[in-house]
Amino acid sequence: MTELQLLKAADPHGSALLEIADVTMRFGGIVALEAVTFSVGKGRIVGLIGPNGAGKTTLFNCLSRLYRPMRGDIRLNGQSLGRCAPSDIAALGVGRTFQAPTLFASMSVLDNVKVGAHARSHNTPLADALTLPLGRREEQELDEVSRAKLAFVGLETLANRPVTSLSLGARKRVELARALAAEPTLLLLDEPAGGLNHEEVAELGTLIRSIRDRLGITVLLVEHHMGLVMSLSDQVVVLNFGRVIADGPPDEVRANPAVTEAYLGTRH
Ligand SMILES: Nc1ncnc2c1ncn2[C@@H]1O[C@H](COP(=O)(O)OP(=O)(O)OP(=O)(O)O)[C@@H](O)[C@H]1O
Ligand SMILES: [Mg+2]
Repeated sequence: MTELQLLKAADPHGSALLEIADVTMRFGGIVALEAVTFSVGKGRIVGLIGPNGAGKTTLFNCLSRLYRPMRGDIRLNGQSLGRCAPSDIAALGVGRTFQAPTLFASMSVLDNVKVGAHARSHNTPLADALTLPLGRREEQELDEVSRAKLAFVGLETLANRPVTSLSLGARKRVELARALAAEPTLLLLDEPAGGLNHEEVAELGTLIRSIRDRLGITVLLVEHHMGLVMSLSDQVVVLNFGRVIADGPPDEVRANPAVTEAYLGTRH
């Protein structure tokens, strides 16, 4: 048996941090997600792959409650997210980076990360996060947490720079630091390697691994970069036209003919 099968056999139910059950989402006639069901074990790196339009970002939007699935349930630590608002999600321990950049262009690197640190303890909309008066001690704590996360992603020397002066690779690290500053237990990464060069992708791989190994954070990774997903993931889930067509260890998924077929005729 593989390591994953052994783990599943030893602890078939108890170790799931995230359970996605029968999640279905349609936009008009488009079926974006159809009865999607899979689990993410605590402390794992799980890759979520599939051709363009397969439903990966839609699933992330369901997880962060930006979309309400038409059917199905999503449970975190056994607790349904069904009644949660998007503003509850960070406090519940779900962090996220976005496929398209979402940093505040007019703010410094450090202030962008502070937005994430603020979300950790407050259910305040992002826009209010930096305008509300904070106690001095609280302000100092936000500053310390944010600087520590910037150091973790290797950007501490750029703290006071405007984000617009940074390279794409560095901006993606700021987004990561912002997500980490909310101290999530589950981190959703939507194409973190998009637009990065070979060397930056290798560094990103090391960073994602250390997020799991050193911070103990469970990672759900959407990525088109197959080398990165296959080398990092304990488990890979494949979506195609909104359906899960494979779910298993990377080697098994790579050898699955249905997966190869799903990618044929696409740009990947
Ligand atoms: N807000 C929306 N309104 C209408 N259709 C949508 C919306 N969001 C997503 N879709 C459709 O749902 C399907 C899944 O899209 P989604 O963005 O989740 O795919 P993806 O797997 O993230 O693709 P990519 O790899 O290109 O990012 C697509 O057909 C897309 O056009
Ligand atoms: Mg997407």
